[in-house]
Amino acid sequence: MKRLEGKVALISGTARGRGRAAALRFAAEGALVVGGDLLHEEAVGTQRLIAREGGTALTPGPLDVTDEASVRSWVAEAVDAFGGIDVVCVNAGAVRFGGIDSRPYEDCAFTVRAELDSVRLTVRAACSR
Ligand SMILES: NC(=O)c1ccc[n+]([C@@H]2O[C@H](COP(=O)([O-])OP(=O)(O)OC[C@H]3O[C@@H](n4cnc5c(N)ncnc54)[C@H](O)[C@@H]3O)[C@@H](O)[C@H]2O)c1
Repeated sequence: MKRLEGKVALISGTARGRGRAAALRFAAEGALVVGGDLLHEEAVGTQRLIAREGGTALTPGPLDVTDEASVRSWVAEAVDAFGGIDVVCVNAGAVRFGGIDSRPYEDCAFTVRAELDSVRLTVRAACSR
């Protein structure tokens, strides 16, 4: 039996990078993967890769992890499809780094929203189901 057989894994940011790698790995371990990303077509591409390997994945979306309604609807689709959530991998994020004297405040606010608020929104939505 695989380590995550039948477990439902919610993974954000599955279009590329670490999120795509996590989605493929979780699926290889038997998890039912619910992915999502702003880059919806690329995230669906990850879903296709999983299916090609015999795994199961769903990609409701597009997902914006900085938008509460979007996150809630993503989580709701996961629960509707698979009956619950066992694992939450809060991966999606984006940063605008730079010196405090050279970058506008909007860049800082963008990073806080994409890297921190997104975690709170995702965990809160998942825990409420
Ligand atoms: N790569 C590193 O060295 C490193 C180090 C520390 C932390 N991280 C963090 O790990 C996470 C993944 O890193 P990565 O290197 O794979 O990054 P990446 O940029 O390759 O992938 C991030 C994914 O998140 C998606 N995304 C961004 N904002 C989104 C939003 N608002 N809603 C939905 N999807 C969104 C992007 O479209 C992308 O597919 C990021 O949060 C990153 O900050 C990365």
